[in-house]
Amino acid sequence: MSVWRFRSFREKRGERKRGFEPDMRAIRPRSVRTHLEPRRISHKIRRMESILFTPIRMGSVEIPNRFVRSATHEFMAEDDGTPTDRHAELFSRLAEGDVGLIITGHAYVQPVGKASSRQTGIYDDRLVDALGGIPAAVHRFPSKIFVQIAHAGRQTKESLAGGTPVAPSAVYDPVSKVMPRELSEEEIRHLIRDFAEAGRRARAAGFDGVQIHAAHGYLLSAFLSPYTNRRRDDWGGSTAGRVRVVVEIIGALKAAAGDGYPVMAKWNSTDFLPGGLEVGESVEMAGRAVEAGLDGIEVSGGSAEAGRGSMWAGLRAEEEEGYFIDAAAKFKGAVPVPVIGLGGNRTFAVMERNVASGRVDMVSLSRPLIREPFLVREFRLGRIAKSACISCNKCFNPRGISCAELKKRKIDI
Ligand SMILES: Cc1cc2nc3c(=O)[nH]c(=O)nc-3n(C[C@H](O)[C@H](O)[C@H](O)COP(=O)(O)O)c2cc1C
Ligand code: SF4
Repeated sequence: MSVWRFRSFREKRGERKRGFEPDMRAIRPRSVRTHLEPRRISHKIRRMESILFTPIRMGSVEIPNRFVRSATHEFMAEDDGTPTDRHAELFSRLAEGDVGLIITGHAYVQPVGKASSRQTGIYDDRLVDALGGIPAAVHRFPSKIFVQIAHAGRQTKESLAGGTPVAPSAVYDPVSKVMPRELSEEEIRHLIRDFAEAGRRARAAGFDGVQIHAAHGYLLSAFLSPYTNRRRDDWGGSTAGRVRVVVEIIGALKAAAGDGYPVMAKWNSTDFLPGGLEVGESVEMAGRAVEAGLDGIEVSGGSAEAGRGSMWAGLRAEEEEGYFIDAAAKFKGAVPVPVIGLGGNRTFAVMERNVASGRVDMVSLSRPLIREPFLVREFRLGRIAKSACISCNKCFNPRGISCAELKKRKIDI
């Protein structure tokens, strides 16, 4: 029987295969796949029975499996933050590829909170129609989609923010080279209202929920950390004071979007800064956020100033995978909502172990889904055991995220 087989660019030119070749099944759509190798069929049955392919409830929404696309800035919006057709195309591929919950890249809730070029905005009602194209594309499949709502704080530039960046306290950022302006109490009230309005717009656009970005050194995680939040008023100081802005955002957002609307957060377990946020206190803060109505939590870590973010490079061994899962397991023991384990998830068996053992409820992936948008479906079909992503961090393409490794091999996905 003749069987279709992917032939690489070099092979087609008659050259010998050198080094790594990607598994094309994870990056090609269903229409061009022709067979399942018989020796893999038992894997297929086992995978379909895996806990990773069982549904889970987050607040009022049921998610068809345990795979999450972690928020990943797409670099695809217009200058004013309007999403484009490229977003709908990207997200519909991920949905076709069986990702249970897709979280968009960070969308800014105020113009001064813009972190990057070509970033999506959710700061104005006029963006709702264009935003609506994203969930409409995804909902042709069983996947759910949340929009990540965010504010850059001091991790931006004046040219992007359109003025002096803001922060809980005026603490210089040596990476962005910004001395931010401390927010007044009245501005904090506006900030809470603008996150809530973003939630209302997300619902109006058809998103299944929102993720509040409280990680990676951006504004809300800067409030959580004693290193960046040096306020002496009710928005700083104690654990309760530093988490207060997030607690109030959750309440205001639920009121603006409607009570049952799912709200989760991406949460810094630590910022790796001296005298900064540590896991124990972060878990306590998460507990307060859950009491305020948070429906799920994705545990991350890092900050630009620490020189250590959430994208660790050069992962090779299985032991290096799931590098925030030890921290996530501490949250899992403390909060009664789904906990998502993040950071270097690459091997199916490792992810399955982490969920089956109850350390986390779900697993999220960012870089692997840039490289292989159909990865989850290939896992389910038992055709792939591990992502081909080599964690080289060359996917930041200002003209739209893409895998530089695939480009090098002239493979178009
Ligand atoms: C190109 C790119 C853009 C990212 N954008 C965001 C973002 O918008 N919001 C966010 O919370 N994390 C963002 N991240 C971090 C990822 O969500 C994730 O935390 C990190 O890459 C670790 O997961 P991974 O090992 O599966 O890639 C981004 C990562 C990459 C590679
Ligand atoms: S550029 Fe590197 S890190 Fe990014 S998706 Fe490709 S292999 Fe993974």
